[in-house]
Amino acid sequence: MYTPGHTPACMVHVIGDAAFVGDTLFMPDGGSARADFPGGDAATLYDSIQKVLALPDAMRLFMCHDYGPNGREIRWETTVAEEKAHNIHVGGGTSKQDFVRMRTERDAQLDMPKLILPSLQVNMRAGGVPTDSDGNPMLKVPVNTL
Ligand SMILES: [Fe+2]
Repeated sequence: MYTPGHTPACMVHVIGDAAFVGDTLFMPDGGSARADFPGGDAATLYDSIQKVLALPDAMRLFMCHDYGPNGREIRWETTVAEEKAHNIHVGGGTSKQDFVRMRTERDAQLDMPKLILPSLQVNMRAGGVPTDSDGNPMLKVPVNTL
């Protein structure tokens, strides 16, 4: 399924009774992915998350990330029913308006990821490392922006 919002390239892969959610939802106590990267959009992310929550309640959901909120052990599997009931950002029928407000306010407080500059440059090349005019691997670092 095409599930943009975190980035314009995000997808969820549904295979049998399992869905690999990419960067949409996190575990119920983790909430959702940030939506402030290039091409990201909180309203679009909400719509994509609704597609995931429309899958059968018993569908197993496998996370792309887990940060172990509040010091708990890392987990990677939950269900649609658990997310619908307990996700701290979208559970309990959270409205799109409330989600967009929360996501936008939260994203404004998040730091830029440490590896965002190399990640973007490599991801935009589907895993290829950019090169200089002589073919040497080369990453660019802006001096007076960001
Ligand atoms: Fe991501």
